Amino acid sequence: MNTRENFGSKLGAILAAAGSAVGLGNVWRFPIETGQHGGAAFIIIYIACIMVLGIPIMMSEFLIGRRTHSNTARAYEMLAPGTGWKWVGRLGVFTGTFILCYYCVIGGWTLHYTLLAATNAFDGVPATEFADIFSAFVSNEWMPTVWLIIFMLMSHVVVSRGIQHGIERFSKVIMPTLFILVVLLVVCSVCLPGASKGIEFLLKPDFSKVTGGVVLGAMGQAFFSLSLGMGCLCTYASYFNTHTDLGRTALNVCVIDTIVAIMAGFIIFPSVFNIGMDADHLQAGANLLFISLPNVFQKAFGGVQILAILFSVAFYFLIFIAALTSAISLHEVTTAFISEELKLKRRWSALIVTAVCSVVGVLCSLSFGPLSGVKLFGLTIFDFFDYISGNIFLPVAGLLISVFAGWYLDRQVLHDEFTNHGTLNAPYVRVIIFILKYIAPLGIGMVLLNQLGAFSWLW
Ligand code: PFF
Repeated sequence: MNTRENFGSKLGAILAAAGSAVGLGNVWRFPIETGQHGGAAFIIIYIACIMVLGIPIMMSEFLIGRRTHSNTARAYEMLAPGTGWKWVGRLGVFTGTFILCYYCVIGGWTLHYTLLAATNAFDGVPATEFADIFSAFVSNEWMPTVWLIIFMLMSHVVVSRGIQHGIERFSKVIMPTLFILVVLLVVCSVCLPGASKGIEFLLKPDFSKVTGGVVLGAMGQAFFSLSLGMGCLCTYASYFNTHTDLGRTALNVCVIDTIVAIMAGFIIFPSVFNIGMDADHLQAGANLLFISLPNVFQKAFGGVQILAILFSVAFYFLIFIAALTSAISLHEVTTAFISEELKLKRRWSALIVTAVCSVVGVLCSLSFGPLSGVKLFGLTIFDFFDYISGNIFLPVAGLLISVFAGWYLDRQVLHDEFTNHGTLNAPYVRVIIFILKYIAPLGIGMVLLNQLGAFSWLW
């Protein structure tokens, strides 16, 4: 008896997958990478990475999930019974859980900063003090812990309600909200005096800045941003119905993710240039979101405090939503796995994931404060989770997925799934298979070596 749910509509499926892809990576990394590494030249390279690696790997994950209608770990076992491929699925579940453990910490921070912005807490704060405010917050024993638990509970509520009533319904409301916020913030930001300099910084092509390291960095970024390699999209695809066009869905998700990433640059740089800050030295990551930008937004509206408040609240709420929808997709990978493998009710499985990730998340969070002295392989707990999942597990899984789809799976299976058993015209199937066989393993292999520092002598 198959009691598995499916997404009720194509739009719901696309919005859920886009919700997974659009996350912190779009806001805190992509714009900085673009501005500092050649503007439009970087964007062109990034789009090429998405087309050459992102779409084919995403289609493979979709194929594996939809073909088997199972959680990621079981999916590989069904497609390759009695082989070691089942470990790729298990690696996906493991990596997803790992990422969720530190992602929820940052999710909690976004909630705290939304509240700070809403209560006008940045008014009159000197530029030099934003770093102190942030470090006092993250090193506190209680505050970040409380926020991360609230964040995990929100994700829990959505996931435990199931696919149609939880994830799909939520995505249908929250993703349009996210798009509206992005557009509003872009419009406000580009209307600021001096915005054109910010846009120029973001877009002016400079191919001399595109080194081999930048290209491999762009591939790594594309991977993380599209949520590839950790079973999220494979799990979501296991709820696609048989009519879903996998190629078109992958294209839609990639386009949405890239547009949001570029628009994030249009939100950030006009205001950075408006206040005359040095954009070349902005650091991607938490420093950007929680130290540089609160200061920028505070000053960008020429003392009209209400505008500064509204803009900042909308911005932090936007990244909170982006982080939450990504966290939900990570949560779902492990929840589906536990519920199907241990035959537990969804509610209980989700609770286990919430509890385990909250506990490990608290350890990650405390590594900014009381546990800062605890080191794993020379890294704090938070950095260890971040490094190992993003730099190692993710590309390893991506590499194995492309080899699995390109070399192990029967061509007919790929053809059947990409064309919905011959009912769709998909002339690109041969190209996708070629990429999966030769180009993707080579490209991702190089990303992996680069992230391990193998090319550091070169660039
Ligand atoms: N794609 C998300 C981002 O850009 O922040 C992060 C992420 C979510 C990575 C889900 C992996 C994943 F499975």
